[in-house]
Amino acid sequence: MDVHEVIAQRYSVRAYKPDPVPDEKLGAVLEAARLAPTAANRQPFRVLVLGTAGHEAELKRIYGKDWFVQPPLVLGVCAVTDEAWRRMDGRPYADVDAAIAMDHLILAAAGEGLGTCWIAAFDPVAAREVLGLPDGVEPMAFTPLGYPADEPRAKKRKPLADLVKYDRW
Ligand SMILES: Cc1cc2nc3c(=O)[nH]c(=O)nc-3n(C[C@H](O)[C@H](O)[C@H](O)COP(=O)(O)O)c2cc1C
Repeated sequence: MDVHEVIAQRYSVRAYKPDPVPDEKLGAVLEAARLAPTAANRQPFRVLVLGTAGHEAELKRIYGKDWFVQPPLVLGVCAVTDEAWRRMDGRPYADVDAAIAMDHLILAAAGEGLGTCWIAAFDPVAAREVLGLPDGVEPMAFTPLGYPADEPRAKKRKPLADLVKYDRW
């Protein structure tokens, strides 16, 4: 699949098979995150690879949907704010960099035939506790990682004319 096909085929998977994710596919997904661009190449993110087997109850403290723990793996991307490049007004770009890494791994997963779903509606306090996150490490998003057990839906998107402006706002 070329990149446009991967982008078009990716969708938010909210039902998963329990089948294992082969190590080489997980490796390809993690490598995509590693190759993601980051501001000033600071790479201020970490990817947590979480096995679901036997950890369903604690992971569901982070995000309570049953499908969150259906596949064998959950990935969490954290931003490390102190490592991030800062804009001239002091704004750190750690969240932007972490989001780019997340999107890279999500698209790579789609290219490998794996399902994912961006999850931001998680409990950050539970995430800190369950995952033992130190100060300065911010959980940014999670995704289940496994084989889809549902079907893609039609994409609902604004027309380009509503999203793109030329020359001026
Ligand atoms: C930053 C971000 C956060 C999201 N958080 C959640 C979430 O917490 N739970 C969920 O079910 N979907 C979540 N989604 C998935 C969106 O609902 C989904 O991407 C959007 O409806 C478009 O559908 P599609 O991904 O199937 O194309 C999130 C997506 C993004 C980009």
